[in-house]
Amino acid sequence: MTRAIYPGSFDPVTFGHLDIIKRSASIMDELIVGVLNNSKKQPLFSVDERVRMLCEVTKAYANVKVTSFSGLLIDFADEVGAGVIVRGLRAITDFEYELQMSQTNHIMNPGIDTIFFTTSLEYAYLSSSTVKEVAMYGGDISRFVPETVIKAIREKFN
Ligand code: PNS
Repeated sequence: MTRAIYPGSFDPVTFGHLDIIKRSASIMDELIVGVLNNSKKQPLFSVDERVRMLCEVTKAYANVKVTSFSGLLIDFADEVGAGVIVRGLRAITDFEYELQMSQTNHIMNPGIDTIFFTTSLEYAYLSSSTVKEVAMYGGDISRFVPETVIKAIREKFN
């Protein structure tokens, strides 16, 4: 049984994240989407709001679970019995940070490996930060995020 974690901030979840969730869930027995509860960052959405949105938009995938975590990712992976971390790579600019993170995690726990999915071309430009900025200025975000998220962002900015 292969259980993987897809960790992230998901503030908010975008079609790019959903693409990675869909593709990784199709090759894993179980995928746990881990939403980081990071006290150092000032997110737009609370961790509970982010978990709720993710639950809603992943409800069609039977082997996907969503939960929050705080502290080290490798500790969370141990706790839930996951041996694989899934991350998406959009562009070369992501690479340095992702490489450093995966190698650090592997050194801290050699039993856990990171696998990378290259983001589908149509979402290669997309990030949660861009979505928030476009939404803040009243732009159309319907090509970037699901309807549930559009509603939630509107409520935040209204
Ligand atoms: O969506 P993000 O913000 O790019 O996700 C980053 C995340 C949550 C994967 C990363 O910050 C993380 O794993 N944080 C948990 C703390 C941790 O384990 N840090 C050491 C990683 S080298």
